[in-house]
Amino acid sequence: MKLLHVVGARPNFMKVAPVMAALARQPGVTQVLLHTGQHYDRNMSDIFFRELGIPLPDINLEVGSGSHAQQTAQIISRFEPVALEQQPDWVCVYGDVNSTVAAALVCAKLGVPVAHVEAGLRSFDRSMPEEINRVLTDQIADLLFTPSPDGDANLQREGVPAGRIRRVGNVMIDTLVRLLPQAEGRPVFDALGLAPDAPYCLVTLHRPSNVDQPDSLADILRALDDISRRVPVIFPVHPRTRAQLAALNIAPDGARLRLVEPLGYLDFLALQRRAAVVVTDSGGIQEETTYLGVPCLTLRENTERPITVEIGTNRLIGHDLARLRREVEAILDGGAKRGAIPPLWDGHAAERIAAVFASGSV
Ligand code: UD1
Repeated sequence: MKLLHVVGARPNFMKVAPVMAALARQPGVTQVLLHTGQHYDRNMSDIFFRELGIPLPDINLEVGSGSHAQQTAQIISRFEPVALEQQPDWVCVYGDVNSTVAAALVCAKLGVPVAHVEAGLRSFDRSMPEEINRVLTDQIADLLFTPSPDGDANLQREGVPAGRIRRVGNVMIDTLVRLLPQAEGRPVFDALGLAPDAPYCLVTLHRPSNVDQPDSLADILRALDDISRRVPVIFPVHPRTRAQLAALNIAPDGARLRLVEPLGYLDFLALQRRAAVVVTDSGGIQEETTYLGVPCLTLRENTERPITVEIGTNRLIGHDLARLRREVEAILDGGAKRGAIPPLWDGHAAERIAAVFASGSV
């Protein structure tokens, strides 16, 4: 069996790593790794391959940045000849980025079977590009690997036959479980001047709804500046956010509100694990904090990962920055939300995916 994996953006890398490793242990499986080049910076891509132990991509489409239409179109036109030449038995796509839907569409038109890892998640907010990518990918995928029961229910409501759905758990958590020991003892705390055991707030923001409007981004920065009067705030800044901040001409207090370059996987995991509170608009970080039991405040009106709110440590804050300030205070005063780890977020999701392919039932 020949499987071709398509990845393109940072959150794909921690998902493909365990799936490739689990499939490598199956006899008779050949794997090809294709990087679309959607993310290309050293600290948005290369460092993850190294730290996660992912084989170097066999093929890189080098599409780079562009508008959504340009980026998606480039991936489609560059991937089609590769799919024709490689003739895989299955193409695996991951998550909800532009690379995911573009590759799935090529395969659907060529009649190449597609497996979608992290299927069925829905924010029900079609103003998010990722929601469009999720809905379309799931409609044309042949095999849908879901992380949680809400994923199965969403797919069935949209008419996906139950026989195509396999609930396997969360592959991102596989990577976290494997690398948590390596994240211990990283020198990142010293490098950032964080005292051992002193509380701090960790921030990531890159959603267009938070960072593309100068006024909203400026308001968020002011709230973070307020929070930084009480605890240090560490904010690794995504390139999209960096570009918007440069246009704003805001200079936060660099000692308390630390705007740093995007971090590698291990340093970021080390920081998440010990954070007093995480403020984010990322999907994956909502999941990782739930696993780690770290309180997470999500600056979004909705989430495609409701299980992190229902049973995990996540709270949706929307764009209410007064509430953000209050919730951070409450957490620092000892009022953190407690949570549980969702079923099948156990470090073995990728093995269950490999077992599905090995079973001969697909
Ligand atoms: C993409 C995904 C998003 C995911 C995020 C994680 C889509 C629609 N969005 O958003 O779901 O949460 O990745 O990071 O696929 N840039 C660089 N260097 C890079 C990559 C990007 O400088 O290596 C800059 C470029 O200016 C680019 C901008 O970041 O225009 C946005 O990149 P893009 O891939 O379009 O979307 P993300 O915001 O990264």
